[in-house]
Amino acid sequence: MIITIDGPAGAGKSTVARLLAQTLSKQSGKTFEYLDTGSMYRAIALMGLRRKVDWDVAEELERIAENVSIAVRNGKTFLDGEDVTELVRSPEVTDKTRFAADNPAIRRIMVSLQRSIAEQLREDGKGLVTEGRDQGTAVFPDAPVKFFLTATPEERAKRRLNELQQHGKQGKLNEILQQITNRDVRDASRAVGPMKEPADAIRLVSDGMTLEDVVCQLTQKIIESILCII
Ligand code: C5P
Repeated sequence: MIITIDGPAGAGKSTVARLLAQTLSKQSGKTFEYLDTGSMYRAIALMGLRRKVDWDVAEELERIAENVSIAVRNGKTFLDGEDVTELVRSPEVTDKTRFAADNPAIRRIMVSLQRSIAEQLREDGKGLVTEGRDQGTAVFPDAPVKFFLTATPEERAKRRLNELQQHGKQGKLNEILQQITNRDVRDASRAVGPMKEPADAIRLVSDGMTLEDVVCQLTQKIIESILCII
């Protein structure tokens, strides 16, 4: 069974997807894996930085995407076998990831990889909670349960500022809010695989909710959806 979670940056999709996969594994007795598809685009950008590609020549990054191996297992991302889970979160990688995410040829490769990961899990009798921007629309349009997890830009900016402060870093709320708004526009206006709320998705606005509240609501919705299907 595939469950998709799409939504804008900073809505907490990764944390929610990870906890949801754990909760479903415990409650259903069937293993659910979690897939962070943003980390796959980030991994291509990381390799682009390492190989010092010319970012204005799209083919250079495409060649990397065609030749590297990206694997996502147990919530970790591997690039040619190396665990790059933490490295792909750096500001330098975040800044360059758009060159991978906006490139149609690279998106085709990533979508095909995401589908083959899901197929392998299905053959192994496992479920999948996958999160990104296009999972319920372009990658798994037939997924039986789809979510669109969002929060207001102000709430997402406050959470990001809190995160930074917890890591001993500084930030300005208005600057973070501007970055979040810019990223939303960019995500939604991408020519291929734009962020779009699937017509058949369940929408959850998580303002004022704890992580546990969100996961509890999603679990409840999954149970209701499954009861409707059978
Ligand atoms: O979710 P995260 O911030 O890690 O995503 C990194 C980048 O990859 C973002 O710019 C996002 O737009 C892009 N992305 C994408 N398609 C996905 C997941 C992420 O284009 N399925």
